[in-house]
Amino acid sequence: MLVLDDPGKVQELTEAWRRAGERIGFVPTMGALHAGHQALLARARAENTRLVISLFVNPTQFDRPDDFRTYPHDLPRDLRLAEEAGCDLAWTPTALQMYPPGPPTVVEVTGLSGILEGAARPGHFRGVATVVTKLFHIVRAHRAYFGAKDWQQAIIVRRLVADLKMEPEIVICPTVREPDGLALSSRNVNLTPEERRAAPVLFRALSWGAGEIRAGRRDPDALRRGIGARIAAATAAPLDYIAVVRPETLEPLLAADPPVLLALAIRFSRARLIDNLLVEA
Ligand code: PAJ
Repeated sequence: MLVLDDPGKVQELTEAWRRAGERIGFVPTMGALHAGHQALLARARAENTRLVISLFVNPTQFDRPDDFRTYPHDLPRDLRLAEEAGCDLAWTPTALQMYPPGPPTVVEVTGLSGILEGAARPGHFRGVATVVTKLFHIVRAHRAYFGAKDWQQAIIVRRLVADLKMEPEIVICPTVREPDGLALSSRNVNLTPEERRAAPVLFRALSWGAGEIRAGRRDPDALRRGIGARIAAATAAPLDYIAVVRPETLEPLLAADPPVLLALAIRFSRARLIDNLLVEA
């Protein structure tokens, strides 16, 4: 596995691969790799002839300095896991390489970026859209892999790619969970032991909601109340939102006719967690 930081070299190499007829799969990450990232890498490895991972904790998508400061880092471990996953190239740019000094160019997917996670974290999706645009112009991939765990991010990236006529096909992969249902996240290490014990209630409450919808329940307010009550019974941590929305547009639904995305965010003491569940048509 090659490890590069210079964006120009990465662009040259991936262009050369394309000219040689390789199919390039790309998994953008912020490092602190876990089984969720590994599932994206495994899928990308199986579906392409070259596999590229980027490891970059993107400062512009953090709305809170303390979240950026406490974001976990372990580059040697990440590089080992990337190599084990069969990556041909690990790209580890510096902040200066990604953001040269001076007033920056930014990219924003309007509308979708201002609701749910975007409403709770102002500027977050502008930072994501900006960095993903740069990543996609440098790694000239055929396909890029994103997790359903960050559903809103994945559909914003799909819209970005469609609007700017960028190449990679966006593949959305299922959320990987702990055996007790907690969605894997780099931020789970910031949960207290008590919060960690309570956290599986998020998936249980979402699963209850999905079961209600499958059983024909359609009232979004009743679904939200039921999900909220189950979570409140397990933890006093405040919820940011519980959303019952159309998966492709994130429009709120008056009637929960599938396809429906149930999504929520909760503020534990040192970690804000999100989770969601898709109820397919
Ligand atoms: P990061 O949080 O490192 O996540 C990288 C990718 O892994 C994202 O597509 C995310 O949805 C996926 N992922 C995280 N947890 C997952 C899980 N439990 N199951 C399945 N997939 C999971 O998302 C980012 O980085 C950044 O915003 C990035 C896109 C790299 C731009 O900076």
